[in-house]
Amino acid sequence: MALERTLSIIKPDAVGKNVIGGIYNRFETAGFRIVAAKMMHLSTEQAEGFYAEHSERPFFRALVDFMTSGPIMVQVLEAEDAVKRHRDIMGATNPADALAGTLRADYAETIDENAVHGSDSATSAAREIAYFFSDEEICPRTR
Ligand code: TYD
Ligand code: MG
Repeated sequence: MALERTLSIIKPDAVGKNVIGGIYNRFETAGFRIVAAKMMHLSTEQAEGFYAEHSERPFFRALVDFMTSGPIMVQVLEAEDAVKRHRDIMGATNPADALAGTLRADYAETIDENAVHGSDSATSAAREIAYFFSDEEICPRTR
């Protein structure tokens, strides 16, 4: 498996709980390199565009309202098999189903405010990374 990139978001609930550093520590301990990062407060249009695949779902309006309710941290993580390994350390979408020791088990209480986002495929990762970052904003490690 070659080096791969995935898009990670620390959502407004987790930023509000002041646990950015705790979550970054999990990424680094698990062997991910953070190759791009920024704090943003999404507009309604930005959140709608990011989650466009869910626009017909019943939870869409609430999801957009939540994702615009406060600042988020957006980062590109690089590792072997990054998409799947990042999903593994995030845990299930519903924190009630998330395995012990995963980010959602440790930092989230409900499915609608579940602390973190991670791309679900290499195709999604490419779209999501380009949604938030230009090529110049991504800084591969040189040492
Ligand atoms: P989804 O892409 O299915 O989950 P994941 O974030 O694990 O890839 O859904 C996107 C987000 O939408 C999810 O993180 C939280 C929210 N959501 C709800 O609020 N209710 C739901 O029933 C589902 C499926 C998702
Ligand atoms: Mg998803």
